[in-house]
Amino acid sequence: MTLQNVLPWIIRAHKEGWAVGAFNANTMEQAQAIALAAQAENAPAIIQISHRALTYIGSGNEIRGLQYIAAIGKVAAESVSAPVSLHLDHGSERDVLQALALGFTSVMFDGDGYPFDENIAITKKLCEAAHSVNACMEAEVGEVPKPDGKELNHANIELTDPDEAARFAEMTGVDILAIALGSVHGMKSKEVSLDLNRLETIRAKVSQPLVLHGSSGVSDVDIKQGVSLGLAKVNVATQMSAAFTGGIRDVLSKDGDVVDPRKYLTVGRENQVAAVRERIRFLGANGKA
Ligand code: G3H
Ligand code: 13P
Ligand code: ZN
Repeated sequence: MTLQNVLPWIIRAHKEGWAVGAFNANTMEQAQAIALAAQAENAPAIIQISHRALTYIGSGNEIRGLQYIAAIGKVAAESVSAPVSLHLDHGSERDVLQALALGFTSVMFDGDGYPFDENIAITKKLCEAAHSVNACMEAEVGEVPKPDGKELNHANIELTDPDEAARFAEMTGVDILAIALGSVHGMKSKEVSLDLNRLETIRAKVSQPLVLHGSSGVSDVDIKQGVSLGLAKVNVATQMSAAFTGGIRDVLSKDGDVVDPRKYLTVGRENQVAAVRERIRFLGANGKA
């Protein structure tokens, strides 16, 4: 299939209490793994690219990175019959516009660091741009921190204020809204609980489907509960990279003589297909294509 805007599946998931998985890719093999897993599970799925992944893929040039991944995502989606979307994750205003011009079917503007009213104004403008090319628009209220190895004080995390979320959703017309419920990006173990009471309050005030960032560090019990309460897009990055890298590490540690990158990248890709399939089934998206 051509790259799809999977918003209709996210809306359906929101109504029915399951979620579409959005998986970060840093390499061609990781993007392929997401499409192959969607195919194997007959599920909608999202390949998403962070700002740092773009910079990596473009060897320091993020526009070049967007061009590369637009081409890779297009071929990955067209190689399977399940609906696959290509999403820009945590984009700047400039990256969002560039991604839309390159055929991304979904974008996120990360207004972290902007005053609330400015975040609203930029998001509103980008919504119009996304909708003019039938793409899905995501934005965020609150903060899911990216500690990048630095010490984090969980008590200082700015969780989403339900009234602000309602005002933001109404004024911007955003399609899906990322909210902060206590998760943290980049965690290697599942230790965090979500503020599910806050989620219930937000769900009552916001009609749009809600997005969970930083799911790798959240307990599965809380993710399941959160999905039943309105989280209809769940972002998974670190957990997938752990599967991919784990496969490569196994090959290299068993055979110190290996030089052909295909030998270890094949195993990394296979491991990631299995990990994406597991998350798709966990989120209840299997069979929903
Ligand atoms: O939110 C973004 C994901 O956690 C991936 O982050 O590519 O910047 O490491 P990264
Ligand atoms: P994790 O790396 O914690 O899974 O975060 C994923 C994410 O939110 C990407 O936007
Ligand atoms: Zn995120």
